[in-house]
Amino acid sequence: MAKRRPLSYGEYLGLGELLDLQRLVSKPRQHDEVLFLIAHQAYELWFKLMLNELETAISHMLADNLSEATRLIRRVVPVQRVLIDQLEVLETIKPTDFLKFRSILHPASGFQSLQFRELEFISGQKDERYLKLHVGNESDYEQLLKRWEAPTLWDGFRTVLEERGFDVGRKAKGNEEANFELEVEASLKIFTEGKYLHVAELAEVMLEYDKWFQLWRSHHIMMVERVIGGRAGTGQKIVKKTIGSASFHSSGVEYLQTTMGKRFFPALWAARTRIS
Ligand code: HEM
Repeated sequence: MAKRRPLSYGEYLGLGELLDLQRLVSKPRQHDEVLFLIAHQAYELWFKLMLNELETAISHMLADNLSEATRLIRRVVPVQRVLIDQLEVLETIKPTDFLKFRSILHPASGFQSLQFRELEFISGQKDERYLKLHVGNESDYEQLLKRWEAPTLWDGFRTVLEERGFDVGRKAKGNEEANFELEVEASLKIFTEGKYLHVAELAEVMLEYDKWFQLWRSHHIMMVERVIGGRAGTGQKIVKKTIGSASFHSSGVEYLQTTMGKRFFPALWAARTRIS
């Protein structure tokens, strides 16, 4: 039998292909486009990892394996911190240097990031307008649709609650307010009754994940404002078409501000207010 060539570092990582993927569009070549491109590519790789962890964490929740679910979501949190730190590198781009290649990027925008939407969807924040944005690109649409149809972190957590005898509203179908109330009441018990220690630990790590996601949003906005001020984003037209509201006409930052305050697990946050 022919002996297999020992695996090399570069082969294992596919470095040939990976390092060939930084294809600049600026002409003449703009020095800072390398940073801009690599930062976004690195983000997409971390997004891929986050999705991998969260997807498995949900399977563990559905199988009532709480310690593994908690461990995997906890792993995502330092990744979220890395993502925020990366914004600092982007902030070193001088606005004048960014403007030299920014216009060539139109209408491409982070707004179109498929994996970012997957992260929102897997976390339970499913907005059909973002799904519809990808109609016309079959493979992107299929990828997002799969995530749309798949269970979310909150579905996983609800199953954990049901396993412990909580009625979290599957019976009160269609009455969202009543369902929410049941979820808050159950979460309150989880946080306050000693016998639910492991569920409480899982809930804490979910709050932590939610918190860091919101922190990324606010850091991203600050970074955007620092680099482009109140200008409209490169994806302005797509944002307007997708979101379809008059209030999204003007600047990129204005749209981004509307995404602030979105919470993945509102029942967990609401339960915190009721702890006495
Ligand atoms: C100099 C760097 C950056 C600038 C100036 C910038 C600017 C913007 C602007 C203006 C928007 C609003 C949509 C639009 O009008 O295009 C946006 C959205 C977005 N950006 Fe960035 N961005 C930068 C870096 C990044 C990086 C590194 C990522 C990582 C993937 C990212 C991900 C996103 C995402 C996911 C959205 C959509 C957010 C949402 O819909 O909630 N951006 N960005």
